Amino acid sequence: MKRIAYFVLMFSLLLSACATPTSVPPTAVPAPTVDAMIYKDPAQPVEARVDDLLARMTLDEKIGQMTQVEKGSIQPGDITKYYIGSILSGGGGSPAENTPAGWTAMVKGFQDEALATELGIPLIYGVDAVHGHGNLLNATIFPHNIGLGAANDPALVEKIGRATAEEMLATGIPWNFAPVVAVVQDVRWGRTYEGYSENTALVSSLGTAYINGLQTLPDGYQPAPGQTLFTLATPKHFVGDGATVWGSSKSGDYKIDQGDMQVDEATLRKLFLPPYKAAVDAGALSVMASFSSWNGVKMHAQKGLLTDVLKGEFGFSGFIVSDWQAIDQIDLDYYKAVVTSINAGVDMNMVPYDYIKFITTMKKAVSSGDIPQARVDDAVRRILRVKFALGLFDHPLPDSNYQQTVRSPEHLALAREAVSKSLVLLTNQNQALPLSKDTQTIFLSGSGADNIGMQTGGWTLQWQGVSGNSTAGTSVLAALQSAVGPGTKLVYDPAGVFKDQSAKAEIGIVVVGEQPYAEGVGDSADLLLNYKDVTKVSNMRDHAEKVVVIILSGRPVNLNGILPYTDAIIAAWWPGTEAAGITDVLFGDKPFTGKLPYTWPRAASQLPLNSNNADGKTGCDGPLFPFGYGLTTSDPSPKLPECNP
Ligand code: BGC
Ligand code: BGC
Repeated sequence: MKRIAYFVLMFSLLLSACATPTSVPPTAVPAPTVDAMIYKDPAQPVEARVDDLLARMTLDEKIGQMTQVEKGSIQPGDITKYYIGSILSGGGGSPAENTPAGWTAMVKGFQDEALATELGIPLIYGVDAVHGHGNLLNATIFPHNIGLGAANDPALVEKIGRATAEEMLATGIPWNFAPVVAVVQDVRWGRTYEGYSENTALVSSLGTAYINGLQTLPDGYQPAPGQTLFTLATPKHFVGDGATVWGSSKSGDYKIDQGDMQVDEATLRKLFLPPYKAAVDAGALSVMASFSSWNGVKMHAQKGLLTDVLKGEFGFSGFIVSDWQAIDQIDLDYYKAVVTSINAGVDMNMVPYDYIKFITTMKKAVSSGDIPQARVDDAVRRILRVKFALGLFDHPLPDSNYQQTVRSPEHLALAREAVSKSLVLLTNQNQALPLSKDTQTIFLSGSGADNIGMQTGGWTLQWQGVSGNSTAGTSVLAALQSAVGPGTKLVYDPAGVFKDQSAKAEIGIVVVGEQPYAEGVGDSADLLLNYKDVTKVSNMRDHAEKVVVIILSGRPVNLNGILPYTDAIIAAWWPGTEAAGITDVLFGDKPFTGKLPYTWPRAASQLPLNSNNADGKTGCDGPLFPFGYGLTTSDPSPKLPECNP
């Protein structure tokens, strides 16, 4: 109906323009023909194109734009049939052929279906490229954000954002569900590593640097008309995901992930909102709502924060995407859940599976007036605006030129640099570090010594990550092999027994840490290291003059079991695929510069313990290492108090 009315209007305009040539200046009517659709005209300003397109859309088409479907759940033909506006890959959501060409073919197939609709609105494909394009086999994997927080180098983070955008574009994907700008208060949280820090200012600074890297058009880039974004960033999870209370989660057996933040508004504004203000000011055009709650009310239902603060007060003109099936958590009654959440300000629903149920529910809610038409129009306007800002209307299909950027020498060098800057030297007794390249014998053991999966952690190949060497990269073992001089004997015994070695090594290195995890699966009550790794450390003490431990982990872990047996301990976080960045620093080619982005507790029983609540606690009540701590090799190693665990 609407469309017919539009054509009647255009024709009568045309007729009146011809009939009364003197009453209308020729420039006022841009030669209207049936084909001259403003939204398709690259010469028109974006807002005019959005207005024009919105005016042509039926309710079904609008609801389709608000619907995001997981790529394995969409049925052939349904993108066209239901006007689906967005598809995503969840963690591990790769095509059968996990190569840039395989991804590109998949994304193009979906896009072709979207373009086959009458209005031809391109869809937007999203993915979690949270430390490089982790779902892509053999991508460049950078340190997780915790390591970048330790490096605290905004220019470096911006470059990582750019490099990640390029590897995403190599697979035809313009939208990244990153960065996490959680200000993490309790490191028992399984998403601690996704956050940069416990410190608000540090999170704001690195979050905006990353957004700039993803979004800023590169020099010399030829944008589509109206295109302002290289790729789209998504600061998440709005807001307070890192502030939830241990034991408050109601999701499965999660303990703190998706739980409840219990603070007053002043604290919320002071500690957790600033990274979003900074992100909006930096041009963020998509924000993901959090699974978590604030004082018992799910964030997806918090109209005051989503609409009044983010869209109103902060002037956010982009769209809010839900988290994975998160709208469903608001109410057991799905209709109520959808009405509450969309009215609260969520613009796009990451459904992710049963999209027909969502679409049917939306139609009912809009038809009955429970969701105002104006709310739908506002949501769709925001989504379309971003699609124009990405140049998708004029360049909807993947550009194969980016395929050569995947694991390019430049990206690998950048990742290696990031690793070296992210390392934090925790202890260094007996001047164990730096190591000499002439060291006669080095013994190596530990679960992480030859394990790229333990270097990359969660959100790599699979949602939970994968232990072992499944993607291209340099393990610690391989990095050591190429770093040591010709005279060094490097003995690797994964079990750490060294039974054929009669003599002690000058140096023993044990690479310990956490097996990969993601989200609430990684919530940890005790932060304990695996006892086998702890045993390998104590055993190494018998086989080496000096013992150096490298920790691969998503957060601070309990060191009590290994401290007595070590000379030097390095927190390497989850550094990604390029462990040569570790040996660069071990052997002194580069200095230790990383500083703790999180308070390091003595034991999990002290938590939550961080620089916002430590209240001057010292000695055995205080942290093992405070926020901002980190040695250089010329610093004396601290004398640690002996405390009963
Ligand atoms: C996570 C988000 C992620 C989404 C899509 C959710 O479970 O909380 O951070 O973007 O899944 O993978
Ligand atoms: C998906 C993730 C998502 C998670 C939420 C997984 O199956 O791969 O992307 O975050 O489910 O529970």
